[in-house]
Amino acid sequence: MRKKIIAGNWKMNMTPSEARELCRTLLPLVKDADTEVVFCVPAIDIVPVAEEVKGTNIHVGAENLYFEDKGAYTGEISADMLLDSGVTHVIMGHSERRGYFHETDEDINRKLRKALEKGLTPIVCCGESLEQREQGICFDWVRMQIKIAFRGVSAEDAKRVVIAYEPIWAIGTGKTATAEQAQEVCKAIRDCIRELYGDDTAEAIRIQYGGSMNAGNCRELLAKPDIDGGLIGGASLKAEFAEIVNYNK
Ligand code: 13P
Repeated sequence: MRKKIIAGNWKMNMTPSEARELCRTLLPLVKDADTEVVFCVPAIDIVPVAEEVKGTNIHVGAENLYFEDKGAYTGEISADMLLDSGVTHVIMGHSERRGYFHETDEDINRKLRKALEKGLTPIVCCGESLEQREQGICFDWVRMQIKIAFRGVSAEDAKRVVIAYEPIWAIGTGKTATAEQAQEVCKAIRDCIRELYGDDTAEAIRIQYGGSMNAGNCRELLAKPDIDGGLIGGASLKAEFAEIVNYNK
């Protein structure tokens, strides 16, 4: 049985003081969750959020990391810095980072290998644009993203990875993929992992859906056999997030 994982991606929202406030609002609402709950927060919010959630069931995630250990990389943050601040999970390859900051599949592969080497739980994002979907290359595109991201990753390490399928056209648009569309791609991703690593890894790896997931549509999405959780943007910044976390209550 794969444990469901519900992660908030705060993106570039919440000052450190606002972040503390949001933690205080959410903590009592999510404390009885039987899902794995993660707040992925801006770098500057990591320390205050880690302080707020200390001793609770909430995991702290970062929204990015750099693949070098240390040195002259102005503005970047290493895996050791994240670990020392209490981070356990880290998002990589979000479409916003691919689009605005020109991250490539090769960068994401290096980030994935570094996160695994250091013992962080990676959340690797993939997903197609509307144009790619309409062209009929969604499956090919996502399979390519996965294959490059996982190059050089062992079958044992791959089991620790969380993949987030986020169709770009569904992010921040209020236009969720239907549960059938999301399930179909999440299954294709699991089949791709099966081809690369075999049944054991394919059955262990967790695949989230992300893109306008909210309290209203989460149950239908999370009921699908290959959807093991959600990566939530907008709805993670309010009390609604707790309804998603407690979707099965
Ligand atoms: P929204 O939930 O705001 O559509 O964002 C999804 C997302 O990009 C999570 O990483």
